[in-house]
Amino acid sequence: MDVISVIRTKRDKGELSPEQIDWVIDAYTRGEVADEQMSALAMAILLNGMNRVEIARWTAAMINSGERMNFAQLSRPTADKHSTGGVGDKITLPLAPIVAACGAAVPQLSGRGLGHTGGTLDKLESIPGWRALLSNEEMLDVLDSTGAVICAAGDGLAPADKKLYALRDVTGTVEAIPLIASSIMSKKIAEGTGSLVLDVKVGSGAFMKNIEDARELASTMVGLGTDHGVRTVALLTDMSTPLGLTAGNALEVRESVEVLAGGGPSDVVELTLALAREMLDAAGLKDADPAKALADGSAMDVWRRMIAAQGGDPDAALPVAREQHVVHASESGVLTTLDAYAVGVAAWRLGAGRARKEDQVQAGAGIELHAKPGDRVTAGQRLMTLHTDTPEKFEYALEALNGGVFTSPEGTEFTPNPIVLGR
Ligand code: URA
Repeated sequence: MDVISVIRTKRDKGELSPEQIDWVIDAYTRGEVADEQMSALAMAILLNGMNRVEIARWTAAMINSGERMNFAQLSRPTADKHSTGGVGDKITLPLAPIVAACGAAVPQLSGRGLGHTGGTLDKLESIPGWRALLSNEEMLDVLDSTGAVICAAGDGLAPADKKLYALRDVTGTVEAIPLIASSIMSKKIAEGTGSLVLDVKVGSGAFMKNIEDARELASTMVGLGTDHGVRTVALLTDMSTPLGLTAGNALEVRESVEVLAGGGPSDVVELTLALAREMLDAAGLKDADPAKALADGSAMDVWRRMIAAQGGDPDAALPVAREQHVVHASESGVLTTLDAYAVGVAAWRLGAGRARKEDQVQAGAGIELHAKPGDRVTAGQRLMTLHTDTPEKFEYALEALNGGVFTSPEGTEFTPNPIVLGR
């Protein structure tokens, strides 16, 4: 088998054979297929797609590229959630402790920022001392002792996805349904969770810009999960505007802690509780009450123990960026557009995300929002604050926001999108 013929098959809109798929995933994992060859194939897949049979085989090959975990020894049912990625999507941070406080075991193998979207591990690494990399034994220990663990997938778990995910981030090949579905589901199936709730984001800040594509992605992933014996449910949720009032690593940790303390923005609380209910249902814990776990502080207790078990100090001050720039409203009226993609790209340019796979993210960089769509604003009022350690990036970030913020005249009727768009 040679890689050029595999690339040509997909470039010419052909169907990859099971043998081609098994070979190319294995050869890429072993370093026999080079990054530039895999990026050509990823681009051909993005442009020409894969059918369900190819996607199932691609996913199986990624699972088989590494080990499979098993949580059978735990006394609690396992429940996991995965988001397809958005702007300001910090939901995993409050969600995992809430669901754990309700009696499930939550093994959250999470990722780093991809494109303009943030990554859970990048966010948590802004907590001094916190470690994303755990051995399988450490991961099981944290899960067993606290009920939840959020960590990087170990090197042994779907290593093909690890390489491909980092490559797609820097080659413009993220937004492909077959690649997203197989990336997410290979990790989740290999991880061995009993149930999985998918948060499929829809809108400008998501990889899926319209509801039809999001539905297609959701049904592809639910099909893959079900075929591998994982109880899988998907919610379609709005990503036309950022979730909550922050986009950026430490800023989002701060907001998540506010939610765990019983406050925080209402959209973040609403989506966290909706996903928690789905996870508890899927795990067979229908009578558990996630809102109570927030209100009585038990979710906060799990958070503190989980962070400490991974070396973090839950009481440490979070990093703050060296420089701030405030954007003011230029006119009075109703804020009708605060585009998630524009905010995501601006936060990324400020240093919250990476341009090359070896880049470090800035913990304090990002954007703090002072108004959301539907709010009345007055000319001169603060709309958002940009944070960065590299102030020469302000102009570049402001360019990304051009056209992404729109105020309609006073009295305009405007109803923000619901958070949950479908199930
Ligand atoms: N999350 C993943 O794990 N993979 C993708 O491709 C996109 C989001």
